[in-house]
Amino acid sequence: MQKFVVTGGVPLSGKVQIAGAKNAVLKMMAAAALTDEPVTLRNVPRISDVKIMREVMSDIGFEVRRADGDLMEITAARATWPFIPLEAARRMRASFILLGPMLARFGRVILPNPGGDRIGRRPVDLHVAALEQMGAEISYRNGYYYAAAPADGLRGARIAFPTVTVMGTENVVLAAVLARGTTIVDNAALEPEVDDLLAMLRSMGARIERTAERRIEIEGVERLGGTAHTVLGDRLEAATFAIAAAVTGGEVMLRGIDPTHLGSFREACGRIGLSFEPGADGLRVLALDRELRATDVETAPYPGFATDYQAPVSVLLTQAAGTSTIHETIFEDRMDHLRELARMGAAIEQVDERTARITGPARLHGAEVVIPDLRAGATLVLAALVADGTSVIDGVEHVDRGYEQIEAKLVALGARISRIEA
Ligand code: EPZ
Repeated sequence: MQKFVVTGGVPLSGKVQIAGAKNAVLKMMAAAALTDEPVTLRNVPRISDVKIMREVMSDIGFEVRRADGDLMEITAARATWPFIPLEAARRMRASFILLGPMLARFGRVILPNPGGDRIGRRPVDLHVAALEQMGAEISYRNGYYYAAAPADGLRGARIAFPTVTVMGTENVVLAAVLARGTTIVDNAALEPEVDDLLAMLRSMGARIERTAERRIEIEGVERLGGTAHTVLGDRLEAATFAIAAAVTGGEVMLRGIDPTHLGSFREACGRIGLSFEPGADGLRVLALDRELRATDVETAPYPGFATDYQAPVSVLLTQAAGTSTIHETIFEDRMDHLRELARMGAAIEQVDERTARITGPARLHGAEVVIPDLRAGATLVLAALVADGTSVIDGVEHVDRGYEQIEAKLVALGARISRIEA
């Protein structure tokens, strides 16, 4: 087990290169299973979730080569074992994104009921129901889904999701691109990571259009070719570093991120008192004046305020003058980090499992804290950066899942943080 030791109180400043988006690259790796030709991905982050996905795809029989730097080449010539190991799925929910492409290309796959972050039940019923509409036979036995496509392949269908689901949308698209006929997805997700996946699939020969508000139409084709695709920057990592700079009274130049992907984050942080200045050299972020202002935030599917911003922004709100309300509408159990923030001195009233009130500014003090999940992990690092004194943060492996060498990037901005073996 490893821990972070952080001593707060240093204003962070400098440039930081934002890595490729975790929630895009995992799906792009799965998309490579749709063709027997080589697929090259650039700007692939060095995070443990990519490592797990790489192991899973190698177990299936695909060739996944990680060149130096941020390059990855995948050749899914054949699937020797269309089976996703329980351990992988327990550690990473995104392994379920292999359902669609494996059914589309090979006609069968066995994969576990995914685990993933401890942020609520996170069922996959919408994925299963949608693929059954496309003709798949999916049964669930002893922790595993056994899925098979019809002998003559999946067929296009009209899928209307009752609630917006990012990976549900992606699983359907990854199945529909090789299905017979047309698939229409209504109430589809609009995240930038989904759009980047659509762009990659089009470069492989897929026929996909967003034809109306939250509607995607896919015309199935016989086969797809290889491609080379650069993964977009991770808006969640960008938000984390923006908060790190602002909450410590510094400023940061974010490179490798498209500012338009941060819309709802910039709007909410603008109300709190952060300034975002897009420039040739990147996106410059700083707190306009020393006193941050309280505000209310409510999470929603993109382009709304992303649920993944909710935990990091709560650190900002502990330093904002007044009382803020956070309302989490996507997941039913994504506020565990507030308990740890309270132990560091934050004034937090948990109204219910989805709502909390934060009153600031509160002086935070160092503490020994434990990370419950990935985005909360980064949040506790942010809190330790602003706290007086030293904090010890346990559960660093959660942070490594989604952040590439977070402590090295923070040290480059002036932070006092180190990783120790517990
Ligand atoms: C993706 O998860 C992201 N993960 C999450 O980021 C992100 O928080 C989430 O989208 C919401 O934006 C990846 O892309 C790998 P959903 P996903 O399906 O697709 C319910 C991170 O920190 N639902 O959009 O699994 C679900 O319970 C991760 O990087 C069903 O009921 O989320 C939730 O309440 C955490 N049945 C809501 O829909 C289903 O079959 C939205 O979930 C599927 C989802």
